[in-house]
Amino acid sequence: TAVAELSEMIAEAEAILPFTGAGISTECGIPDFRSPGGLWTKNRPIPFDEFLASQDMRDESWRRRFAIDATFGAARPGRGHSALASLYRSGKVPAVVTQNIDNLHQASGIAPQDVVELHGNTTYALCLECERRYELEWIKEQFDANGQHAPDCTCGGFIKTATVSFGQSMPAAAMQRAEDLTKRCDLFLAVGSSLVVWPAAGFPLMAKRNGASLVIINRDPTEFDEIADLVVRHDIGDVLGPFIQH
Ligand code: OAD
Repeated sequence: TAVAELSEMIAEAEAILPFTGAGISTECGIPDFRSPGGLWTKNRPIPFDEFLASQDMRDESWRRRFAIDATFGAARPGRGHSALASLYRSGKVPAVVTQNIDNLHQASGIAPQDVVELHGNTTYALCLECERRYELEWIKEQFDANGQHAPDCTCGGFIKTATVSFGQSMPAAAMQRAEDLTKRCDLFLAVGSSLVVWPAAGFPLMAKRNGASLVIINRDPTEFDEIADLVVRHDIGDVLGPFIQH
């Protein structure tokens, strides 16, 4: 079976690079983006230029962020996160590259410096000008006290969750680190991503071109399935659960 084959590949690999997407967090109660009920099936994403251009869009963006806070705040790592954390502790996984913004890899016990976030993190905010960090609790207080308007930084800059919006530049250091890790791995594990968003989707391809084996674990088919060495179209928690070590 595919799962037995995966076990064998993991046992034989020396440097495994997990590359995760929203599908690893759905069992934690966080919807993904493109499945039925996904975030982008409910709301159109707010592109970065629109966030910059209008106070209304900034307010809307913060309204949405606070609305999902109930789900995000309570979310705990799932079986996929725990399995990857176990492989990390065993020394086979040097770091995790993620498109996720939910902080759950860190919560599962992977050291923050070994979670390479390509799309940032939504559990805190940054000033777009001076990069001062803000906590969401404080922003919510200001938002409510100010008639549901997003506060600005003391420097006058706009404050935004520390995530990468469409049209916003990718974090250079994370991109470089992801590239280095991709080129050094012998097994690249794409987990829970539709692999449609670029440049992130370039990493599985880069891994394959550099001679690594490519495994895709995802419920729905992806465009990279045909170049993968193994495709596992099952529930991530079920597939990775057996790799959890307490
Ligand atoms: P998507 O929503 O595009 O894809 C998630 C994939 O996970 C889908 O193909 C599902 O089939 C699969 N999936 C969901 N739950 C699963 C489960 N329990 N077991 C197995 N598979 C499951 O999410 P991403 O690929 O992460 O970027 O999206 C990429 C980027 O698009 C995100 O980082 C975000 C979004 O716009 C930004 O916001 C910049």
